[in-house]
Amino acid sequence: MARPVTGVHVTGWGAYAPSLVLRNVDLERMVDTNDEWIVSRTGISERRIAGPDETTASMAAVAGLRAIATAGLQPDDIDLILLGTLSPDYVMPSTAALVKEAIGNKRAAAMDLYAACSGFVYGYATGHAYIASGMAKHVLVIGAETLSRYTDFSDRSTCILFGDGAGAVVLSASDEPGGTLGIEMTTDPSGAYLIWLPGGGAARPATATSHASGEHYMKMKGTETFKMAVRTLGSTATAAVKKAGLDLSDVDLVVPHQANNRIIEALAKSLDFPMAKVFVNVQRYGNTSAASVPLALSEAVAAGRVKKGDRLLMVAFGSGLTSGAIMLQWTADPAAMARAAAIGPA
Ligand code: COA
Repeated sequence: MARPVTGVHVTGWGAYAPSLVLRNVDLERMVDTNDEWIVSRTGISERRIAGPDETTASMAAVAGLRAIATAGLQPDDIDLILLGTLSPDYVMPSTAALVKEAIGNKRAAAMDLYAACSGFVYGYATGHAYIASGMAKHVLVIGAETLSRYTDFSDRSTCILFGDGAGAVVLSASDEPGGTLGIEMTTDPSGAYLIWLPGGGAARPATATSHASGEHYMKMKGTETFKMAVRTLGSTATAAVKKAGLDLSDVDLVVPHQANNRIIEALAKSLDFPMAKVFVNVQRYGNTSAASVPLALSEAVAAGRVKKGDRLLMVAFGSGLTSGAIMLQWTADPAAMARAAAIGPA
């Protein structure tokens, strides 16, 4: 095992979103809803839907390769691939193993992380631990989802919310100052069934009956989830900032899980934090679960919202109920920023 290091930095980032756009007006033709209701309750105007040949693995691989290219690395430089997802291609093998094959990496260990919408942040925390302990030098952390395959497009309370996509970062060991400053992770199983997908697991295996009753689709108690989300995001974010030895006023940009604009605004209000320093792209992607934070991070960088030395707070919340937050100082060098700009956002 190599010498443990303290510095864990984001050296690469990238995202991918499928080209097919599902607008609110398209949903108006599928369920009893309307654009005004969806925008006023969620802030979402459109979301991306994977094409017939796209899967979580294929989207994750594109985002992963973009992150590796931004870092100025080759696929074989990666020691570990961590994929946060709740929509794996298969129950087994892991989707991370398929991503390893797709990106042409011959040497990394690869595994999936199951923490729903917090999957990317949990993956980041895990990658951080591997690097800080000296077990890995470069870790590819991906969040990717094909939620459209788990969405009941006859249920207006859920089908308006979700979308597909992928985002990734490369975490690298370095002794330079900055990088990851504080991490908080929580799990509160008291809300385990607020957002869940009952069918297809070992407790309720897929049968013709379970399929006919729609157990293979996501179910959600929206109002309860909303309240838990605001409360938990706030406490998790605050804890990560505190662990970094900082104050919320030291944060330059918050990149929150993009579930719903009202949740994000309520979070900012509860923390007395200005919305001008919060990045929001939920209007164009909906809730892409584990993909949402890295997709938002890539777009925030592309939009010029992140510069060297900035202190970023990423915070997520999801089924479990899981929550996680990362406080970090952005240290990417100008060459990486130029490579990312050449690749473009999602
Ligand atoms: N279009 C039109 N009306 C709709 C609708 C839709 N898509 N979905 C629900 N409604 C109706 C309901 O049937 C209800 O009608 P009723 O009063 O006649 O019974 C009414 O709108 C209010 O429903 P309610 O569920 O109380 O709305 P809400 O203000 O709580 O908004 C959500 C619903 C889902 C947008 C909101 O609860 C939410 O965002 N929750 C969090 C979801 C989330 O982010 N989950 C993932 C977390 S990781």
